[in-house]
Amino acid sequence: MASSSPHPLTDWRALHGGHFQGTRVLITGGAGFIGSHLAEALNTLGASVVVLDDLNGGNRGNLEGIGPVKFVEASILETAALSAATQGCRYVFHQAALGSVPRSVEQPVRYHEVNTTGTLHVLEAARAAGVRRVMFAASSSAYGETPTLPKVETIPPDPLSPYAANKAACESLCRAYSASYGLDTAPLRYFNIFGPRQSPNNAYAAVIAAFAKSLLAGKHPMIFGDGEQSRDFTFVHNAVHANLLAARNEKPIAGQVLNVACGVRISVNELAAAMAQSIGRPDLTPTYQPERAGDVKHSLADLTRVSKVLGYQPIVDFRTGLDAAMAWYKTALM
Ligand SMILES: NC(=O)c1ccc[n+]([C@@H]2O[C@H](COP(=O)([O-])OP(=O)(O)OC[C@H]3O[C@@H](n4cnc5c(N)ncnc54)[C@H](O)[C@@H]3O)[C@@H](O)[C@H]2O)c1
Repeated sequence: MASSSPHPLTDWRALHGGHFQGTRVLITGGAGFIGSHLAEALNTLGASVVVLDDLNGGNRGNLEGIGPVKFVEASILETAALSAATQGCRYVFHQAALGSVPRSVEQPVRYHEVNTTGTLHVLEAARAAGVRRVMFAASSSAYGETPTLPKVETIPPDPLSPYAANKAACESLCRAYSASYGLDTAPLRYFNIFGPRQSPNNAYAAVIAAFAKSLLAGKHPMIFGDGEQSRDFTFVHNAVHANLLAARNEKPIAGQVLNVACGVRISVNELAAAMAQSIGRPDLTPTYQPERAGDVKHSLADLTRVSKVLGYQPIVDFRTGLDAAMAWYKTALM
């Protein structure tokens, strides 16, 4: 698949100035979707970027054309390679993980190893290397079916899938490493991140990527459930921005969980209609399949805490982000 294209949407320099200039950073999972956007933004900001990725779900193409990156092909479970890659880094942006709720239901032990034990190794490597802060890619799936909307970080986690349980366990590990060893950590609970480079090429593709693939092939998008489930769809630059703000934060974050989202809820039916409209094929209405195990009905973030702690506000809204994503899928898939 084609890799990067310029995204003039965000002026990273205007937002983050010279903070990362000359700073060495490690991005685990940096050849994946979100990690490659972090690498791109950090390159723009003059950081020296190291990516460690075993190419399990990501690919080297995601890093093409985004500036210089030192690429280490290794797993976070390979402790020697991980510790070498972490040396000299001021920040670690830990994005590596196996994604997909339904696949985690099929493979709970493998998910635990990579996602939970892998995160433990990342924290250990960061502690040993004297890293200033670890940003962790946590997930809104930790909220489970709690009916309260919007989701506030004070709601106790209720993981309904092995994937969500992994992410909730890792948040606790982050908190424990801050409390026990003084390693500062920032678990950022992402809500449905989407954008260019999100892969549509697996059976568990995220919904926007999967819909783009179907629509651009002239097929009807497939919805699991009645389509009235809703999500806080968040353009990827918002997640990158939150990571950079967290890294720069003057005060310790100390493992405090922070939501990262847009703060707007869109139903999957609305999404399908907007995407079909955007390619001029409103006739491509959805088909419906039974609900999937472990999927939650509604999701919407409260952004009060993240705005207080980090000064975070979304920088790209849903519509603008969707247009950028569709423009990319058109060149990458057609
Ligand atoms: N995309 C979302 O909506 C979303 C929501 C919540 C949380 N997250 C989390 O954000 C992170 C990034 O997600 P993404 O959407 O970019 O997914 P992605 O699959 O595109 O990226 C994950 C990357 O991790 C790599 N990886 C997997 N196992 C590894 C291992 N053992 N060692 C080294 N690298 C490994 C993959 O090759 C891939 O490049 C993940 O931790 C994911 O769980 C994503």
